[in-house]
Amino acid sequence: MSQLSQRSDVAAFLAMDIMRDANALSAAGEDIMRLEVGQPALAAPDEIRKAAAHALEADRLAYTDALGMPALKARIARHYQETYGHGPDAADVIVTPGSSGGFILSFTACFETGDKVGLAEPGYPAYRNILKALGVEAVGIPVGPETGWQLTVDLVQEAEKKHGPLAGIMVASPANPTGTMQSPETLGALIADCEAHERWFISDEIYHGITFNQRAVSAAGKGDHVIVVNSFSKYYCMTGWRLGWLAVPPRVTRTIERLAQNLFISAPSLSQIAAMAAFDAQPELDRRVAGYARNRNILLEGLPEVGITHIAPADGAFYLYADVSNLTDDAIGFCKRMLHEAKVAATPGLDFDPVRGHKFVRFSYAGAEADMAEAVRRLKAWL
Ligand SMILES: Cc1ncc(COP(=O)(O)O)c(C=O)c1O
Repeated sequence: MSQLSQRSDVAAFLAMDIMRDANALSAAGEDIMRLEVGQPALAAPDEIRKAAAHALEADRLAYTDALGMPALKARIARHYQETYGHGPDAADVIVTPGSSGGFILSFTACFETGDKVGLAEPGYPAYRNILKALGVEAVGIPVGPETGWQLTVDLVQEAEKKHGPLAGIMVASPANPTGTMQSPETLGALIADCEAHERWFISDEIYHGITFNQRAVSAAGKGDHVIVVNSFSKYYCMTGWRLGWLAVPPRVTRTIERLAQNLFISAPSLSQIAAMAAFDAQPELDRRVAGYARNRNILLEGLPEVGITHIAPADGAFYLYADVSNLTDDAIGFCKRMLHEAKVAATPGLDFDPVRGHKFVRFSYAGAEADMAEAVRRLKAWL
């Protein structure tokens, strides 16, 4: 019997397992507080949905250019100028099926089979798993409170001493699961170091727009080795529309175009038309971010009262990453009991950190404000 490839033997996403159990309990009539899901509770704002409804009636919804609709590419390029004052030309914006599609395209374009790529651990698990599926070795670089749970030049250089040269590094700011951000200085130093060593710098900026203390700095257009990955999923509340984008150096664009033509043909055209309206929804989206800030405060006040005191600095995104080693060293069992006994769903840290994650839990506060307060109340009664 033929065997399945070694490359495809990637880890399951435990958050999805907890989500499945929480869905089953909800379907059975249980009232579960959903702090496990990494997506906004609200639908895309009205102007986005209206644009889609109109397009559904009026448009043929055919394939678009593999790199995306020119008008959307131009609108994204304008967004960079308006938001950061720098960024790619429209020609070097590539519209992708979610940032997940952007990872597949950029990793395939940048890395050879057998290359090594450095990633902060804890980190978003798909980086490691997509790299593995492409035959690229993910080198987990442990990060902690000393560096704000983010990579630094020193950590990257130490990793190279231990593991050999890295073909690239992946940075996310704000990050999932920690919510922590890179300082502009560290981000700049990492980019400079990557440029000097001809190492790809892949910047996942999917949580830009959802920040509480400082504005996020974009790496877009900052070097010949800098690839920015972004998405309409989180700030724009469009997870199921499966739309993201890349901002790449001009020398990379044609290669990714050829890959995109073959791998995806194009990103969904209905979503692309709708996304044109996303940039006009900013006032509503910023009100939603203010809601996440209130949720965050409820948890930051409430969790310490139940003994969850060690929480990574929640600079952005909508996650709290908590060290629960004073309560358990089996985060999976802990999350299962929390779900079944306290009716609160959260994600065990092992998804994000295969080494230390058994002592950590990620709480998502992208849900309703009342649910955050209720989750704290239930945890108090449970713990
Ligand atoms: C850090 C990070 N990057 C990328 C993604 C994937 O997002 P999408 O493919 O919906 O754009 C997620 C989803 O949770 C994420 O947390």
